[in-house]
Amino acid sequence: MHGKFITIEGTEGVGKTTNIEFIQTWLNQQKVDFVTTREPGGTPLAEQIRELLLTPRDEKVCNSAELLLMFAGRAQHLDQVIVPAIQSGRCVVCDRFTDATYAYQGFGRGMDSALISHLERLVQADLRPDLTLILDIPVEIGLQRASQRSAPDRFEREQTEFFERVRQGYLSIAANEPQRCVVIDASKPLADVQRDITTALESFFTQGQG
Ligand code: TMP
Repeated sequence: MHGKFITIEGTEGVGKTTNIEFIQTWLNQQKVDFVTTREPGGTPLAEQIRELLLTPRDEKVCNSAELLLMFAGRAQHLDQVIVPAIQSGRCVVCDRFTDATYAYQGFGRGMDSALISHLERLVQADLRPDLTLILDIPVEIGLQRASQRSAPDRFEREQTEFFERVRQGYLSIAANEPQRCVVIDASKPLADVQRDITTALESFFTQGQG
């Protein structure tokens, strides 16, 4: 049986790291065999591509170079990690995936979603996440939280309006695919956020019989 593919999405500072740790604990308690990974990244080559993408630089990175680097890393990650895990029956928990490309490169940068969809088919064939949790908070709060963490990376240097478009992008993806996507209000107290995540996971694993 194929393992489930779960992705976690959201704009900067929504609390992905803390909540992914919570999801790992929950899956362990349910005795689900899983692997946790992230994008961009997830293999040595894809982590190098992540470095290229996130490092602030003087040279302007053109939109199509950014898009192709995202999918280059994704192709490698799918080949080396995601597909083998799913095929061996393990659940994959991935910190961001192609919804981030629609949200950031599509809604954020203004790239054509048909072009993204074309690359998605090229790189993933018909592989799509089974469940996507979108952690949602007002952009200002997220950026404030993210700025307390570390020096801003190349994306975190973008203007607030960019992240507003990204956030709306995620919400519109969720509205179009309500069976797959669950929007979690991450501005609530952590205990409430984690209760909502548990509800989403329980409902997903009950429907899909694990
Ligand atoms: P983070 O996941 O550690 O926050 O950093 C990854 C950054 O890369 C984040 O700002 C979102 C961005 N990103 C894209 O722009 N497109 C993508 O397809 C992915 C996976 C990430």
